[in-house]
Amino acid sequence: MKKQSYYISTPIYYVNGAPHLGHAYTSTAADALARWNRLEGHNVFFLTGTDEHGQKVEAAARAAGIDPQEFTDRVSADFQDMARVMNISNDDFIRTTEARHKKSAQALWAKLQESGAIYLGKYEGWYAVRDEAFYDEEETTVKPDGTRVATASGAEVKWVVEPSYFFKLSAFQDKLLAHYEANPGFIAPQAKRNEVVSFVKSGLRDLSISRTSFSWGIPVPGDERHVMYVWLDALQNYLTACGYPEMTGPRAHFWPASLHLVGKEIIRFHAVYWPAFLMAAGMDLPQRVFSHGWWTVEGEKMSKSLGNFIDVRPLVAEFGLDQVRYFLLREVPFGNDGDFSRKALIGRINADLANGLGNLAQRTLSFIAKNAGGAVPPKGELHEADHVLLALADELPEKVRAAMERIAFHEALNEIWRVIAAADAYIDHQAPWSLRKTDTARMNTVLYTLCAVLRVLGVVLQPFMPEAMGKLLDYLAVGEDRSLAALDAPLAEGTPLPTPSGLFPRVVEAG
Ligand code: MSP
Repeated sequence: MKKQSYYISTPIYYVNGAPHLGHAYTSTAADALARWNRLEGHNVFFLTGTDEHGQKVEAAARAAGIDPQEFTDRVSADFQDMARVMNISNDDFIRTTEARHKKSAQALWAKLQESGAIYLGKYEGWYAVRDEAFYDEEETTVKPDGTRVATASGAEVKWVVEPSYFFKLSAFQDKLLAHYEANPGFIAPQAKRNEVVSFVKSGLRDLSISRTSFSWGIPVPGDERHVMYVWLDALQNYLTACGYPEMTGPRAHFWPASLHLVGKEIIRFHAVYWPAFLMAAGMDLPQRVFSHGWWTVEGEKMSKSLGNFIDVRPLVAEFGLDQVRYFLLREVPFGNDGDFSRKALIGRINADLANGLGNLAQRTLSFIAKNAGGAVPPKGELHEADHVLLALADELPEKVRAAMERIAFHEALNEIWRVIAAADAYIDHQAPWSLRKTDTARMNTVLYTLCAVLRVLGVVLQPFMPEAMGKLLDYLAVGEDRSLAALDAPLAEGTPLPTPSGLFPRVVEAG
């Protein structure tokens, strides 16, 4: 049977500033999905990268007094470092200043031109450099101090008048609406879908897709006074990585993407402009665009003026990598906004990881090491309580699968923690420490049952906490194949187990 393909992307991150919690969030979420799909045995292509052109990046380089290429090299390397620290398992890292991307973006331009979707005109209107976005006057507000800002983002807008090429976005209004209608799952969550549909229904204007007032971008083929609008350039990254325009390389078959994971503020670019470009270029559309919410920090928006950007790397150093990954994916229903606080992070680590999963594993494994010969104990006849717990564990992968398909990490984790709670209750009830004196055969069956449950927990939790679950599966002497399919084989009795140690230390807050 041919393996199912799964292509997932993060947005490519602007390199005007250092990576922070928001970027780590999108990447960790995409990583969990990529890893889950690998566990399913799918053929996965996971792409991330950096968005390096445009006025905003050019201005940041100038402010740093560095040549833009040198500046983007530096910041892109920092994003790659964050991905490494967060254990992001991307298969490729794309930079829009690479030659492969310049070629691909220019080929897309030529294709759009050939299809008659591009014309030359003059742009006159509002532009927000921070958002790299054009706004209609109705989408802006004048603040008491007289500055005009984009209402949705708060970014300052400036009136721009310059020659520009336009993309005939207005011609795609009906086609886009028909696509949303025929593919109800194309934009998620539902509230975002409704927002996009009403935006498109309200009427689409043609989109300015080139700039002449600065030069840090990909030159427009045949008219080098213009550079391509950074969003046209950026969105094309998803096709560049598949080998556009030839589409003959090893990644070509991954197109169309299964999922573009994005933050809520960039849904319009992914669910309106990008599909319209693709339609004009005669390419298939991605299957799904999912938008997640935003994090505030201790109740405040992260911003330059507050200087409260959180870099996740020191958090990882302080609390542990998988602890941070777990928190990000568990704390907030995916799609909603959330608040980051040290208190919430520590609370989760202690309650769910140290006292929950960690304690369950430690109680079971250290007991086996001390009292049951340090090997997977032999299983005797199963009692009703064993059957009930094993059935919960058996049903778990299917429940997690259903939640992951809906991109509901919190629900997947809730299902998993239900089984942890049931296993905790089981161990208390069966009390293997008492059985040790009265009935060692029964004690072994109880411990076997717990090992079997821990194995399932370890396998389904790998996408969320790859390192810690790798350790747990090592402690259970699970072989190299740690996929969902491998759970079909029963845990082998008598397998010697290595000496276990604690997975998640309890965090004690000083002061
Ligand atoms: N360069 C564009 C994307 C181009 S994709 C073709 C861009 N970059 S970004 O660096 O500004 O943001 C990238 C991602 O980080 C978005 O998904 C965004 O939602 C996420 N976050 C940035 N700040 C965030 C929070 N405070 N909270 C959660 N995620 C946020 O947009």
